[in-house]
Amino acid sequence: MIRLVILASGGGSNMQAIVDAHKFGVLKGLAEVVLVISNNTNAFVLERAKKENIKSVCIERKSFKDDESFNKEVLAELQAANADLVCLAGYMRMIDKEILNVYNGRILNIHPALLPKFGGKGMYGHFVHEAVVKAGEKKSGATVHFANEEYDSGKIILQKEVEVSKSDTPEEVARKVLEVEHKIYPQAIKKVIEENLRG
Ligand code: GRF
Repeated sequence: MIRLVILASGGGSNMQAIVDAHKFGVLKGLAEVVLVISNNTNAFVLERAKKENIKSVCIERKSFKDDESFNKEVLAELQAANADLVCLAGYMRMIDKEILNVYNGRILNIHPALLPKFGGKGMYGHFVHEAVVKAGEKKSGATVHFANEEYDSGKIILQKEVEVSKSDTPEEVARKVLEVEHKIYPQAIKKVIEENLRG
């Protein structure tokens, strides 16, 4: 069984989708979530982990004197958990170089737009959907990609479109996109396991 560690800062609906895919869906018998790491003590994702009996740890940047010691702690937790794959799911911090090196090609991220459009620094959460509506796009969607040293620019693993109608508000676009995120994240994990981790 492939060991997944999820890093999340917020609600954790994508974490839930991955956990559910292990219990009843495409990740059944293939991958399980062994640890949830959050950088935010108030994140609802920690409640979800508790409810699912999944170990969780909160690693807050403000508890460390600098980025280096913070990143060391994150890496130590990943290694202690024997992580095979790391899934960023609404994680609001950049992943540090050393972690990227250790888990080269094994860190995935989900972005709520059709990358390379509407990605990059500052393009997160509602900003993405507001920009999509403002630009008059006829479609948006979700992208799962490998994490690298720049925001939202790693190799794309899976992408799925949703239609955007003229009357859609950013909130409506967000809702449609989140729905497909929950479908494609487990599928993308499966794809990476089959293509990259199993020869
Ligand atoms: C998702 O829209 C994801 O694409 C983005 O942050 C949001 C996280 O939602 N990176 P949740 O915490 O998984 O509910």
